[in-house]
Amino acid sequence: MSQRPIRKAIIPVAGLGTRFLPATKSMPKEMLTVVDRPVIQYVFDEARAAGIEHVVFVTGRNKGVIEDHFDIAYELEETLARRNKTDILRTVVAARPRPGETSFTRQQEPLGLGHAVWCARDIIGNEPFALLLPDVLIKGKTGCLSQMMDVYSEHGGNVIAVEEVPPERIDQYGVVEIGDGSDPLWTVTGMVEKPKREEAPSNLIITGRYILQPKIFDLLSRGSAGAGGEIQLTDSMRPLMNLEPFRALRFEGSTYDCGSKIGFLAANVAYALDRDDLGGDFRGEMKRLLSDL
Ligand code: UTP
Repeated sequence: MSQRPIRKAIIPVAGLGTRFLPATKSMPKEMLTVVDRPVIQYVFDEARAAGIEHVVFVTGRNKGVIEDHFDIAYELEETLARRNKTDILRTVVAARPRPGETSFTRQQEPLGLGHAVWCARDIIGNEPFALLLPDVLIKGKTGCLSQMMDVYSEHGGNVIAVEEVPPERIDQYGVVEIGDGSDPLWTVTGMVEKPKREEAPSNLIITGRYILQPKIFDLLSRGSAGAGGEIQLTDSMRPLMNLEPFRALRFEGSTYDCGSKIGFLAANVAYALDRDDLGGDFRGEMKRLLSDL
């Protein structure tokens, strides 16, 4: 079936990143590096690989460096070219969007993820869009958003990425209640934020990638502050489920929550081990460190 194309993606980057203070006092947490590129570059590349043509960054104060990162660094590129550093120049050029492929809008106060998404409403307009949380890195053969795009092409509607977590950690996440379907794709019938272990409707958590229909913006406009005094996206996705098809895909890939220290450190190890130019030496270094313990 032919669906309305998903051309645009929102990447919200207006959070305060308090779990990484003092590193994030004057530097956005999205610019923390995994191996040799900022976390946000991996997420931006995932969006582009999935066919996204335009990325809307919802930023806040102290986030200007993200805009610079995705801009042309004219002098740097000139110098690299003059010095014949062609490999690194190619990497730098490939990492940046072409002119007009990004927009930046400000969420003036960090009032929650739902509010950040709502701030992009005029730039997105009346079309379905993708939403990628930049602190979640998903490593796999095919990008998570590309896998979701395949589901969207077939079924349309709204699609969210989910993954299983052990019961003892379920109370830290947004959890879905599933209806019809079978692994890896189900209809979503409900969602709860941070349920108690015995009240969780499943062991599937929402993982930071979404394809949403523009009706979410109306629902967000009506939204008021929920858990933690923030405008939660979950509170507006719940009524959306009653209006339009809503599916959960258990994607293939490993997730690293780079908003937490452990997840961020694990991401560095996993991505470094996987690199052709570093993996061998780094494995040796890891063995040495672990054998000293
Ligand atoms: P988090 O709650 O994980 O990010 O939001 P945070 O608030 O920056 O982190 P901590 O808990 O203080 O360490 C998930 C994503 O949503 C964005 C964040 O930038 C992050 O990418 N976000 C969150 C916003 O853009 N605006 C908000 O008001 C809240």
